[in-house]
Amino acid sequence: MILPIYVYGSEVLRNKAEIVDPSSEENLKEFIDNMVETMHHADGCGLAAPQVGVSKRILVVDGNELADTWPELKGFHREMINPELTEESKETSSYEEGCLSIPGVTAEVIRPKRIKVRYLNPDLTEVEEEFDDFAARMIQHEMDHLNGMMFVDHASPIRKKMIAGKLANIVKGKVHAAYRTKTDRK
Ligand code: NI
Repeated sequence: MILPIYVYGSEVLRNKAEIVDPSSEENLKEFIDNMVETMHHADGCGLAAPQVGVSKRILVVDGNELADTWPELKGFHREMINPELTEESKETSSYEEGCLSIPGVTAEVIRPKRIKVRYLNPDLTEVEEEFDDFAARMIQHEMDHLNGMMFVDHASPIRKKMIAGKLANIVKGKVHAAYRTKTDRK
């Protein structure tokens, strides 16, 4: 099922998401499948549960759309429950990011180049894995969402000024996206 995507200005995107207790979740796999379907429908390469209005620590990433530019992303797909950063490199990289919750806005974001993450997969097996380059970036972007952060928070002061008008428009409901969007703003 394709879910609507909450956009910038929605409170759910600014809350710290709750740790998932798998024993009290009945439809966890179905929900994750819905997140993956929603991400693909919107041509995104990642999605975090708060972006579909659910304040829980779940994210999905998929690099297949980007495999033309980064061949190493072919077949890259992860579904993570309760991901935790266990290591990050001092070495950083910079790249222009976007987000399904902020249509039409991009900004350069500097992030650690390599990370190690511990998480539960949908079979509830604990996994600890290392990621680098774009895969590491995708996961860090989605993990930010679980902490109420968005990529625009990392933008340079000049870039923040440049995108302020667009962000204000999204908050006002002026959103142009090829997928269904939503806001919880009263
Ligand atoms: Ni995002």
